[in-house]
Amino acid sequence: MAKQNIYDNAIFYEGYKKIRDNNINANNLFEIPALFSMMPDLKNKRVLDLGCGFGEHCKRFVENGASKVVGIDISEKMLKVAKEENSDAKITYINMAMEDLAQMKEQFDVVVSSLAFHYVEDFSGVVESIYHILSDNGMFIFSQENPLCTCHTGGNRWTKDENGKKLYLNLANYGVEGERESVWFVDNVKKYHRTFSTIVNTLVETGFSIEKMIEPLPSDEILEKYPEYNDLFHKPDFLLIKMRKINFY
Ligand SMILES: C[S@@+](CC[C@H](N)C(=O)[O-])C[C@H]1O[C@@H](n2cnc3c(N)ncnc32)[C@H](O)[C@@H]1O
Repeated sequence: MAKQNIYDNAIFYEGYKKIRDNNINANNLFEIPALFSMMPDLKNKRVLDLGCGFGEHCKRFVENGASKVVGIDISEKMLKVAKEENSDAKITYINMAMEDLAQMKEQFDVVVSSLAFHYVEDFSGVVESIYHILSDNGMFIFSQENPLCTCHTGGNRWTKDENGKKLYLNLANYGVEGERESVWFVDNVKKYHRTFSTIVNTLVETGFSIEKMIEPLPSDEILEKYPEYNDLFHKPDFLLIKMRKINFY
């Protein structure tokens, strides 16, 4: 199956980095707080981060007590920043696609992935590898773009009123799974749409017990400062799932 490395595209990379360099973004306001609210106690835990990007989460896992952290990413450009800005004696960064995880022979107590799975075609293959790499009772926590976003196939995402206020999401092709091509800094950015039921059934049938799901929404404090995030009540941007490995499959 296809593996895409769009973060090594110079134009894409510069555009993405600019967003992340600005502290006011949806990652910092919604996705990262939700992700860390789901993390178990990391004291003396071995943690694997799939699609670790700039390595910011890896560094935080060490600060939160992890004994060893491995961050893998398909993009050399992202890993270069990770090594320069977020290195630590307890962290190893590896240039590797998560589709190749079966090659990794180590065991981990916690596997995390933040906003990378929507770039992966072979979701069930990666989930299967995660199951095998986890220790007994190991935890698996991930975020991805919400399926209400990944289903988009073109045209205007929103119906707006005459003042440009978003009224509702234009939803189409939710049930048509598979590749989507979008424009984000560059043309032909490939993402993969899966329905909620496909995601949940893949996890459960592989042997994970789901403990929590979050689709982050803005608090009153955030809305007061950034009223534009009221749109999230129409369509959440993210989906996060926390699971535990079970052993009777
Ligand atoms: C939106 S960024 C998120 C980075 C980081 N997890 C964070 O939340 O700050 C997505 C990352 O996933 C990586 N990625 C995409 N597809 C991948 C794959 N198949 N295997 C490994 N990494 C992948 C990209 O290179 C990029 O660094």
